[in-house]
Amino acid sequence: MKSLTSSHVALAAALIAAVSGCTSTSHPKASLSIEQIMEDGFKGKESLSARISKGQGNEADFKKMAMLTKELALNKPGKGDLASWTEKTRALQAAAESLVAGTPGALDGFKSAANCKACHSVHKGD
Ligand code: HEC
Repeated sequence: MKSLTSSHVALAAALIAAVSGCTSTSHPKASLSIEQIMEDGFKGKESLSARISKGQGNEADFKKMAMLTKELALNKPGKGDLASWTEKTRALQAAAESLVAGTPGALDGFKSAANCKACHSVHKGD
């Protein structure tokens, strides 16, 4: 009887851990770092983001950008507060998803959301 009780306690503890969500490891984590995403999608004049902003992106480009910006939003910046980061990265992700969906005005939305300097000045370290 004693062992049954303690296994119930263990089960209850496991359930509480599962339900309490965010603070546990069940929270979705980014599989790409900010550096990797910058290198892969933003760095340089011929980057994915540069081509998209020039109106040269195709559907595959938009989908890749939607994936990269989703990953970006899952990261936490080394600098600046999280609320600002979440706002900027969600806007970027939403803009990339509008491009995939072909929403009118999506390109202008993307260009303003992909403002390198506005984000770097707040969130990029030295
Ligand atoms: C939503 C925020 C955000 C936007 C928009 C953004 N960046 Fe970044 N970028 C960052 C952060 C944060 C870092 C610092 C990463 C680190 O070192 O942890 C960074 C780092 C970089 C780096 C250095 C990467 C490395 O190898 O360490 C380059 C290059 C870069 N960004 C280019 C760009 C360009 C070009 C644009 C615009 C077309 C851009 N980024 C837009 C957030 C952003």
